[in-house]
Amino acid sequence: MMIFSGSSNKPLAEKTARELGFEVFPLEISVFPDGERRIRVVDRVVDEKIVVFQSTSTPPDQNYMELFFVIDALKRSGASMVTAVIPYLGYERQDHVFREGEAVSLEVIVKTLERVGVDKLVAFDLHSVKVPELFTIPVLHLSALDLFAQKIKELGLTENSVLVSPDMGGIRRIKMLSESLGNIPYATVEKNRDLETGDISDSSMEGDVNGKTAIIVDDMISTGRTIVAAEKILLKNGAKKILVFATHAVFSANAEKVLQNLKAEKVFVTDTIFIPKEKYFTKLEVISVGRIIAQGLKDF
Ligand code: R5P
Repeated sequence: MMIFSGSSNKPLAEKTARELGFEVFPLEISVFPDGERRIRVVDRVVDEKIVVFQSTSTPPDQNYMELFFVIDALKRSGASMVTAVIPYLGYERQDHVFREGEAVSLEVIVKTLERVGVDKLVAFDLHSVKVPELFTIPVLHLSALDLFAQKIKELGLTENSVLVSPDMGGIRRIKMLSESLGNIPYATVEKNRDLETGDISDSSMEGDVNGKTAIIVDDMISTGRTIVAAEKILLKNGAKKILVFATHAVFSANAEKVLQNLKAEKVFVTDTIFIPKEKYFTKLEVISVGRIIAQGLKDF
């Protein structure tokens, strides 16, 4: 196996490679003055099985294009098989038409990845469990939930705690986490989002959080608005302590400030997306998924 990485999350590729006892082979990635990218494979890859890492996080279009070119370069250079590890799959939320006239962006991404020559895909905590079904290639769908369960146990939070899904789409996720934590109770927030502006209004919730530690679990934090809305209603319903767990630290706009200003004591995320220094804040703790990806690659 030869491991390569695009430029969006090389530290995770390196961590995973170390776990496997491999190295990350270099790629020549240069950018022309007009912003176009040129990719060149330096090492011999003829008949090799290749793993390519690239998180298609911000800027998603650039990171996707770079990935497409890397795959093309590898295939043209004779690679026998390419497994793309896309720890965060950009555009996965646009998996259907929400409002008449919209593109199904995820479907375009799926078609392009397959067309460009990806043979297998490793993904992490996809927005919907249905996403793998859109691909005709094998997809390994890994999850950070075990890491979150471990952390919750380490922090001694299995007593007097409630898992909270900040929207209806995350119920399956918290049910699974609840099972692995000995069926601790869970609650759900019903989030009403304006499909045009993204604003959240009039959230309501089901479940009892009064006097309890509320553990919000989501697949991703982008602007932080979902977490802010969830926290508001949890506090209104008497939660005495709040913690946040989310797999993907998308952290758009000024999310780091929004999150640091929460009443929540801690925000746990993973390294599926590389977090630049300026996006760090004191409440943040990053848990690595490198070992899980390494284990997944061994058996895939
Ligand atoms: C939405 O369904 C997702 O699971 C996240 O809750 C959402 O994308 C987070 O976005 P934001 O942080 O901007 O509210």
